[in-house]
Amino acid sequence: MNRFDWNSRPGQPLHGSVRVPGDKSVSHRALMLAAIAEGKSHIRGFLEGEDTRATAAVLAQLGVRIETPSAGERVVHGVGLHGLRNAAQALDCGNAGTGMRLLTGLLAGQTFDSTLVGDASLSKRPMRRVTDPLTSMGARIDTQEGLPPLHLHGGQPLHGIRYELPVASAQVKSALLLAGLYAIGETEIIEPHPTRDYTERMLAAFGWPIAFSPGRATLTGGHALHATDVDVPADFSSAAFFLVAASIVPGSVLRLPAVGLNPRRTGLLQALRLMGADISIEREREAGGEPVGDLVVRHAPLHGIELPLALVPDMIDEFPALFIAATAASGRTVIRGAAELRVKESDRITTMASGLRTLGAMIEETPDGAIIHGGLLGSGSVESHLDHRIAMSFAVAGLVASGPVRINDCSHVATSFPGFLELANGCGFALQNVD
Ligand code: S3P
Repeated sequence: MNRFDWNSRPGQPLHGSVRVPGDKSVSHRALMLAAIAEGKSHIRGFLEGEDTRATAAVLAQLGVRIETPSAGERVVHGVGLHGLRNAAQALDCGNAGTGMRLLTGLLAGQTFDSTLVGDASLSKRPMRRVTDPLTSMGARIDTQEGLPPLHLHGGQPLHGIRYELPVASAQVKSALLLAGLYAIGETEIIEPHPTRDYTERMLAAFGWPIAFSPGRATLTGGHALHATDVDVPADFSSAAFFLVAASIVPGSVLRLPAVGLNPRRTGLLQALRLMGADISIEREREAGGEPVGDLVVRHAPLHGIELPLALVPDMIDEFPALFIAATAASGRTVIRGAAELRVKESDRITTMASGLRTLGAMIEETPDGAIIHGGLLGSGSVESHLDHRIAMSFAVAGLVASGPVRINDCSHVATSFPGFLELANGCGFALQNVD
């Protein structure tokens, strides 16, 4: 990846229609299920990000033919549940925690060995949350003291388990469900708080018998997946930067068409509304089995809130953007119950707090959140810490800072949001690449 920095300055009031790329979570899962299905699946709206392309490359190494008729489209020639084959080399998941954790579940029950590796950021992320329960299912996985690379031993018979997740995590739930496809007997997953249910919905769409309700999913091994077409909605997590940006820049009105509105993803929408944001949903409809709608956001004065604990899992990827909204709001915002932020692509509590302090914000870090005081931001130079969402959040901060905000090393934005700079500048940002 080429390293480059950004400079973000106040631009124009934000206007127009911004079509954000496809959902990352849905794109990863669509590839994986289509790969082990019988028949040919067509994926539309696929995220052309580094993370999801890394998953496609891994599946290709495992013998799956994947065609790209055009950008945002994939045709996957499924090999069936037992059709993956040994890859000669290590499987590189890049920056993608979702890719690595879900693939670990998928590969734990294969007849062959696999090695999963990742970049510098992914290599620091905890994997025992996945490898421990998979080991209880009969898998044999070597870690580097709980971190990648992961070496999976093939030929281990798996059996279903009943597992209560200690921490709400859709990645862990999904990894165990994928392993459960290969297990003898029933796999039952119980969550402390419901998380995104794309794996459950998509397994059902591919014809696998599965029972699920918020916080619980049960399936048995030994069935088959049948190819199906998947329409990927626009990613709410990518829309989040524009929701915050238009809320805090006076005079703004933005439309974000066809955004995925799965309730397990839209916690930020509720949080921003509690802060006084003016966001409406138009043309609510269903696409590919998921609720979608056009979001229309207008500038509105925001005020601080005590973030309700129940919203935390439903906005787990949106905290960097919320931190910016909170500094632009009047009064104090209190975030609790979000310790998971410390094990994302970076420690998002520390990286946001230190970057915002550099820009002059008043922010106190706590073990599981932060107390953020609204106020004016100044100019400065902040680090992305190889974290796409940190880079894009500070690009938004630059819109309301009194001078330019330089964001160091923004190359990782391409993991989830290729074309962010062009889309952002197209609606009124003043974002520049600098060497
Ligand atoms: C994801 C689940 C979440 C989220 C990540 C995508 C998924 O991670 O942060 O960006 O696609 O399942 P956790 O399961 O670790 O909370």
